[in-house]
Amino acid sequence: MRKPMIAGNWKLHKTIGEALDLASALKQETAEIDDIDIVIAPVFTSLAKVAEQLVGSNIALAGQNCHPAASGAFTGEVSPALLRDAGCRYCIVGHSERRQLFGETDAFINEKVRSLLAAGLDVIFCIGETLEEREGDQMYEVLATQVREGLRDITAAQMSQVVVAYEPVWAIGTGKTASNLQAEEAHAFVRGLLRGLYSEEVAESTRILYGGSVKPDNVDGLMAQMDVDGALVGGASLKADDFLRIIRFRR
Ligand code: G3P
Repeated sequence: MRKPMIAGNWKLHKTIGEALDLASALKQETAEIDDIDIVIAPVFTSLAKVAEQLVGSNIALAGQNCHPAASGAFTGEVSPALLRDAGCRYCIVGHSERRQLFGETDAFINEKVRSLLAAGLDVIFCIGETLEEREGDQMYEVLATQVREGLRDITAAQMSQVVVAYEPVWAIGTGKTASNLQAEEAHAFVRGLLRGLYSEEVAESTRILYGGSVKPDNVDGLMAQMDVDGALVGGASLKADDFLRIIRFRR
């Protein structure tokens, strides 16, 4: 049985003070929840302070991105080890905004996955097709390439530290959530890819999160899908009440 994960990607939002206020509210309200992995991903500048706030909570911290280098002349970047040093257990990689706005390739994302695992962090590995690719019947080819190339040289054993997040680009920030059927179709396909690349065991044990306009009013239906193991939430993770309702999804 895969333990559900609900992760909040705060993107470029929240001052340190606002982040601490939200983290404090979430900590208080989730103290009794131990059957779901709860993750929040504030901006880099808040990580260390939020990590202090989360001590003793059921909430884990994630970076929103990293550079694959361990150190060096990479102005403006953050390494996996420094994310761990700041208190992160996870790091999101391959988010469509990184791919589209910053030109990140499958190969570069794969370097990040390998570096994060080598530094002892768990990876939330994002994939997803654009509306043009879906409407052009390229969705499955796109997802297959992203999974194959993004996980290149990642061993079956390492996959226990990888969570996949399927985020159809056309659903991110648009309010156009994938239907339950669309989400299940994509997740089942991705699970099939993992079965072919690795094994039945890896396919069945790897969590696949859905991301793309997850809200309190649609999370229950999404979580009822057999191959949906959680959610990667953007906008709705910025408000305590909304994110807590998503965390408290009804099975
Ligand atoms: O990483 C999660 C994010 O891309 C989804 O954003 O606002 O559609 O929930 P949103």
